[in-house]
Amino acid sequence: MPTLNINGTDTALDVPDDMPILWALRDVAGLTGTKFGCGVALCGACTVHLDGQAIRSCVTPVSAAAGKKIVTIEAIGNDPVGAKVQDAWRQIDVVQCGYCQSGQVMAATALLAATPKPSDADIDNAMSGNICRCGTYGRIRTAIKIAAGTVSVKAVAK
Ligand code: FES
Ligand code: FES
Repeated sequence: MPTLNINGTDTALDVPDDMPILWALRDVAGLTGTKFGCGVALCGACTVHLDGQAIRSCVTPVSAAAGKKIVTIEAIGNDPVGAKVQDAWRQIDVVQCGYCQSGQVMAATALLAATPKPSDADIDNAMSGNICRCGTYGRIRTAIKIAAGTVSVKAVAK
């Protein structure tokens, strides 16, 4: 029975080693904030952090998380960068239907943790694998810049 460190807590889960982390999180640990989209690493809806890196949990087996820390959308607000990202998301109402947004917030937080002042190209590179069927890309990009402190909400509102 693998023990996964999920959001800071060691959690023993009765799952096979080859189960995707996404299923372990949603179906066994009851953390449904992480979403299932494509199931084949193409949409980013299932993005979580593994030791701070944004990963596709739909194609990553629980065995890959041994000895590492998983962080999900449920706890990203406990991270100072994650809290800034969530705050920026709220300030300009990024979300439309919301389905993709857990993954978007996780990808944006990983980007800003590694690159605190990202260029447009940095943002494009980091976020291009996160698909939004509602087309909130413009607001996502702006919110990332607000979280980075390179754009103010006031400037956006003009
Ligand atoms: S559900 Fe994992 S990338 Fe689409
Ligand atoms: S907000 Fe609807 S899929 Fe992105």
